[in-house]
Amino acid sequence: MKSGKLEVKNLVFNYGEKTILNDISFELSNGDFIAVVGKSGAGKSTLLRCLNLLNKPKSGEINILDENIVNFNRSKLKLLRRDIAFIFQDYNVLDNLYTVENVLTPYLVKKSIFGLILGYSKEEYREGVSFLKQVGLEDEAFKKSKYLSGGQKQRVAIAKALAQNPKILLADEPVSSLDEKNTTLIMDTFKKLNQENGITVLINLHDVNLAKKYSTKILGLKDGKVLFYKDSEKVTKDEFEELYN
Ligand SMILES: Nc1ncnc2c1ncn2[C@@H]1O[C@H](COP(=O)(O)OP(=O)(O)OP(=O)(O)O)[C@@H](O)[C@H]1O
Ligand SMILES: [Mg+2]
Repeated sequence: MKSGKLEVKNLVFNYGEKTILNDISFELSNGDFIAVVGKSGAGKSTLLRCLNLLNKPKSGEINILDENIVNFNRSKLKLLRRDIAFIFQDYNVLDNLYTVENVLTPYLVKKSIFGLILGYSKEEYREGVSFLKQVGLEDEAFKKSKYLSGGQKQRVAIAKALAQNPKILLADEPVSSLDEKNTTLIMDTFKKLNQENGITVLINLHDVNLAKKYSTKILGLKDGKVLFYKDSEKVTKDEFEELYN
């Protein structure tokens, strides 16, 4: 995959009989920064999980670099997922690893059997610590992750996504358990990745003000449908009100 272009066409997703995402269409190009906002239960997490096929859509298309990924087989999906970093709501950080090792896990897929036996090199550890530095956690690098707080684990998950060097970064409420200072640090880190490295960012946010401040476009999701999708500065107060009412 050479670019972070993504196109979703008439996406439908059901849990059993219940339609959760109903005819979702939107397009984003390389280097966009999209915030998905909407009430609890609107379908934000479900949508993100569809984008790397953790949820299999009932119908519709997800085109990445002009290829519909919906029917990708296991091996194609594995390759695709190297280019898409996904930061989950529940962090996905392994308690018994040193924090820096959690960050470096994306390196494992690139190692040979011998490489795996040898473990990480000094240089790789240095890189891991530099990713932790970007999220303000360099002092915790050689602490077991089980001793970290929820917000710190959330930041470890973000450092791990940085280590993956993705084309597209998907994050589900990445700042939900962070204080103001760390929220700013993380959102600034996303913005920098987006602007300097051209990574396409798509994140779910509860906080509309954060969405307005950082994103280039906002997708308003209501009851599993797109209520609006437009440049962040063009979303009106009425539209936000309708979204949350
Ligand atoms: N595993 C599941 N099985 C059945 N229904 C589910 C499942 N997960 C989510 N749902 C339902 O799908 C709908 C959308 O949920 P989703 O988690 O995508 O919402 P959300 O917008 O991310 O909400 P929040 O802001 O609370 O995280 C909800 O009605 C929810 O009850
Ligand atoms: Mg959610």
